[in-house]
Amino acid sequence: MQKVYIGLIGLGTVGKSVAQILEKQKNRIAHRAGVEICIKKAIVRQMSKYENISIPLSTQVEDLLNDDEISIIVELAGGVEYPFEIAKLAFAQGKAFVSANKAMLAYHSDEILKLSNGLPLGFEASVCGGIPIIEVLRDSLVANDFVRFEGILNGTSNFVLTQMFENNQDFSQALSEAQRLGYAEADPSLDINGGDAGHKLIILARMAFGISLKPNDILIEGIEGIILEDMRVAYDLGYQIKLLAIAKKEGNELDLRVHLALIDKNKTLSHVKGVKNAISLQGDYVGEIFLSGLGAGGDATASAVIADLINIARLRQISPYPLPPFGFYAHNQDLHLKPYDEIQTQYYVRLLVLNQAGVLAKITSIFAQYGISVSEILQKETQEGVYIFLITHSAKEKKIFEVLSCLSKLECVLKNPYKIRIQ
Ligand code: HSE
Repeated sequence: MQKVYIGLIGLGTVGKSVAQILEKQKNRIAHRAGVEICIKKAIVRQMSKYENISIPLSTQVEDLLNDDEISIIVELAGGVEYPFEIAKLAFAQGKAFVSANKAMLAYHSDEILKLSNGLPLGFEASVCGGIPIIEVLRDSLVANDFVRFEGILNGTSNFVLTQMFENNQDFSQALSEAQRLGYAEADPSLDINGGDAGHKLIILARMAFGISLKPNDILIEGIEGIILEDMRVAYDLGYQIKLLAIAKKEGNELDLRVHLALIDKNKTLSHVKGVKNAISLQGDYVGEIFLSGLGAGGDATASAVIADLINIARLRQISPYPLPPFGFYAHNQDLHLKPYDEIQTQYYVRLLVLNQAGVLAKITSIFAQYGISVSEILQKETQEGVYIFLITHSAKEKKIFEVLSCLSKLECVLKNPYKIRIQ
């Protein structure tokens, strides 16, 4: 049987799983690809760490790039500029390129597309691990225009939120567990500060709307600052708290953001727990589609990498591919981003205040001064002071920002107010 040789860069959690599955499922893969897919060599930083691995190793990426027998480079190293350089060199050598690297694609998709010159580019593993969202947007739902989608795109932060809420674990304990299980990025701050979900949202927005953006163009917030009380209070009020990536199209205006959100606890997204990711899409013809599955972890992500490899291997030879990797032949020039201070929604606000007469009146009068109506208030006494939890009626982001900065200047307010949008 004909063989397709790949060069693998990175033998971390995902790289190791890819190597193991290619070896263990050799026959299954050959039957589906019509050719054998073999790793010719893997690039690692330090060879001594991989003594028990049977794949030939090297520390020099040129060993893959200059090997004419290798037709596909699989980049699982992480980072942004280094893998971008590799992509350039791989395409310059006429090789196909497969990557799980959402950060690189979020910053460099235009250049990569140009440099690929039509050669195959696979990135199914870059968004939502094992969920086949890239193929769904590019191929299966290509007849649709999307009005909105919303999703849980980061497994680590969803794992941390779930552990906190269900097992009373503190934030850092839950994060260490996620790192131990191989879910977190090499730099876990990207999981926690919303950066990773933001990168994925940029890729999905490109696939769904044909718009080319960079992470700095959109609102990205993380899960920092959330405390267990927020989750408990939200739950008592009928909500779960999730880190959501949101895309909404109204006419020519596109609202794209990543932030914590209170969502109705009966909504399907509320039931997505642990390292699972999920995405709910609304297509104009297909209606609602809901996809859920493992969003991180070696085997689930390797499943997506191997799907790309099989699809490329099925072509039999690496030559320009007629299909657009991001699903559009040209950018959508009509859409523009909605400025985020124009966001209009309900808010949950948490304040820690002095336990004194008149404090509540002072606080509500500031909301009233800015024309924001409060729909619910709860209080809880603690040793630190009194927590006040408020739910507002629908208000503009700009107004809430003004209210919170005004509140933070009050002497009776002991910590900076914390807000979460209600979805
Ligand atoms: N660190 C990522 C996550 C891995 O937790 O979702 C998959 O991109």
